[in-house]
Amino acid sequence: MTEQPQIFKGLAGVVVDATAISKVNPETNSLLYRGYPVQELAASKSFEEVAWLLWHGELPTASELAGFQKSERAQRALDAHVKRVIDELPLTAHPMDVVRTAVSVIGASDPTTDDSSPEGNLAKSITLFAKLPAIVSYDQRRRRGEGVIEPREDLDYSANFLWMSFGEIPDDVVVDAFRVSLILYAEHSFNASTFTARVITSTLSDLYSAVTGAIGALKGPLHGGANEAVLHIFNEIGFGPNAHERAEAWLEQALAEKRKIMGFGHRVYKKGDSRVPTMRKSMVELIEYYNRPDVLDLYEGLEAAMTERKGILPNLDYPSGPAYHLMGFDTLTFTPIFVAARITGWTAHIMEQLQANALIRPLSAYNGVDERHL
Ligand code: ACO
Repeated sequence: MTEQPQIFKGLAGVVVDATAISKVNPETNSLLYRGYPVQELAASKSFEEVAWLLWHGELPTASELAGFQKSERAQRALDAHVKRVIDELPLTAHPMDVVRTAVSVIGASDPTTDDSSPEGNLAKSITLFAKLPAIVSYDQRRRRGEGVIEPREDLDYSANFLWMSFGEIPDDVVVDAFRVSLILYAEHSFNASTFTARVITSTLSDLYSAVTGAIGALKGPLHGGANEAVLHIFNEIGFGPNAHERAEAWLEQALAEKRKIMGFGHRVYKKGDSRVPTMRKSMVELIEYYNRPDVLDLYEGLEAAMTERKGILPNLDYPSGPAYHLMGFDTLTFTPIFVAARITGWTAHIMEQLQANALIRPLSAYNGVDERHL
């Protein structure tokens, strides 16, 4: 019997490369984007400024920001053929499948798809950044039987996203909570979807292919799909009075059935997700604004029960799910919003991967039948 090599199941604890884009420190519960604590960025920066920071390594000057905003705002609308492809997709398709398909169509239509120069990839990154809100809102509106709302160039990214989704610009508290969520979702080192993008990029494939693959990875409920799964859980428990008690009873049953409780736990953070306090604060502001104390009761009830029973703490998807629900988004739209945010981190990693590329190709241990002959 040959000795089996050591297996690092799920690549847990394995450092596969270096990155200068973000630093996750589970010991101090901190997350830095290009050196800046994410909480500080969320407190005062626009999502456009954070996108620039992730791509370029520095915050933009006033003129750099103005130039970027001009280019981004000019590209927000979807081409007619992208809308036609979306229209052809059945309403039974998950919105993540729609987003994945739309990105693929944009890539297949771009004559510069295979230009992977730094300038070419930055231009594509800005294009996808600009168009994802239109894809997400177009799909949500067609599912609701509502007409398309075209983008407005006089609005910043966050306000325009909400405008295209709902046909009105909500009060500042809502726009701000949305902006905060996008910044918190923007980047998180070598998570599963970002790593997928880097694997695809490492073969010298194109940026659109890498992003399409990353969207597929993000869809899963162990990753980005958890934010929509949190709302499914909240719906199972039920909103309204006495949510705290019902959450406890629901958890007992769910754990007895050996279910994973979505929105809790993290591969890297074991003492709490650094992004949760910031998103929780925004969620609480929304709860006060919409006068929905039952949502906080439910949130805190399940959190307390989960902490007591399993000692497992919430991740970012736990407060962001209810926040998007309160804003009025359909539950199935939550993970596509995550895509719109994470496109910044993914594309920053794609460009970083190409700066010092090595094909990502790990080994496997064979555990099938021994050699045999016909
Ligand atoms: N519910 C119930 N039990 C859990 C949960 C949970 N959410 N998370 C971890 N556990 C348990 C596991 O069952 C396991 O118990 P065991 O040792 O008795 O088998 C133990 O805690 C360790 O968990 P693992 O799954 O091995 O930890 P891992 O680091 O591989 O998983 C993960 C991390 C996938 C995020 C996990 O916590 C989970 O499934 N959470 C729910 C999905 C989720 O919320 N994903 C969002 C991630 S964050 C993001 O994408 C923004």
